[in-house]
Amino acid sequence: MREVTREEYQEFLKTHKEVIIEETPVKLVNWGKISLFEPKEFALEKTTVWSFENRGKWATHRGNYRANWAPEIPRNLILRYTNPGGLVLDQMVGSGTTLVECKLLGRDGVGVDINLDAIMVAWNRLDFTYAATNTVQKLYQGDARHLNLIEKESIDLIATHPPYANIVPFSKQKKIEGDLSQVRSIGEFIAGMREIANESFRVLKPGKHCAILVGDTHRHKHYVPIAYRVMETFLDVGFILREDVIKRQWHTQTMRGRWKESCDHNFLLTYHEHLFIFRKPDKNEKLSKFKESMKWH
Ligand SMILES: C[S@@+](CC[C@H](N)C(=O)[O-])C[C@H]1O[C@@H](n2cnc3c(N)ncnc32)[C@H](O)[C@@H]1O
Repeated sequence: MREVTREEYQEFLKTHKEVIIEETPVKLVNWGKISLFEPKEFALEKTTVWSFENRGKWATHRGNYRANWAPEIPRNLILRYTNPGGLVLDQMVGSGTTLVECKLLGRDGVGVDINLDAIMVAWNRLDFTYAATNTVQKLYQGDARHLNLIEKESIDLIATHPPYANIVPFSKQKKIEGDLSQVRSIGEFIAGMREIANESFRVLKPGKHCAILVGDTHRHKHYVPIAYRVMETFLDVGFILREDVIKRQWHTQTMRGRWKESCDHNFLLTYHEHLFIFRKPDKNEKLSKFKESMKWH
């Protein structure tokens, strides 16, 4: 893990106007004066089904980083599970959606990504002035499985969004060692997620929350439950399941391509993802009453 400073980003900007993420150019934008710093309409989600058909575009949020999550997701998590001044970690930060929300909502943020180009996009999304809060956002190039520069029990909330195994490769053009979107099998992905679960448990403060959005797929016309297997790894390392939110998925590039295939071959398109929200037990907490929400044997 190594910190990628704002100065390094500014140097990078001198020679790069865009980066390529999975064959798609993502422009590094000069944001100028931003007029909208929060959603026009927003209410905290109250149920276990979340759906954002028209994802928000306030501040520097844009949907053009492959598979980035709607800003409404980290906004809900940050507002529900942290207080102003808290420290939020997204260890697969991609285009930095979570950290932009941290900056807007007055929380400090730490973002990690294996891909330096993603970090540059994240820096670019954070490259705007916002006088209403005073926060520190830090970005690291590194592997979510080994967060060696993050101290144990230092984080107030983890909000993260891994690749869904190798369904959408994030670095197809150049192979990046450790990129979990380039695994050869679901089993290899789950093994990586188990290490991420362990690291998440280590860095989170006792009693605090860890939220992770994961999707499933079909292979050979049969359902592949990636998300539940990921959930199990988090329960295995000691987390308690607080919520299982079903997030409605809207038409993505991948889905449109699969529409015809689905009609031809008679299987259902995957239209949901799971947002698991785990809680790390508090120090000396009696856990027997939560046993049905914990690892089962
Ligand atoms: C689904 S994207 C995250 C998108 C992000 N939520 C956003 O809004 O932009 C998953 C990210 O995980 C990163 N990634 C893959 N393997 C990783 C690893 N081992 N450690 C850290 N990041 C990794 C990819 O480079 C990609 O940016």
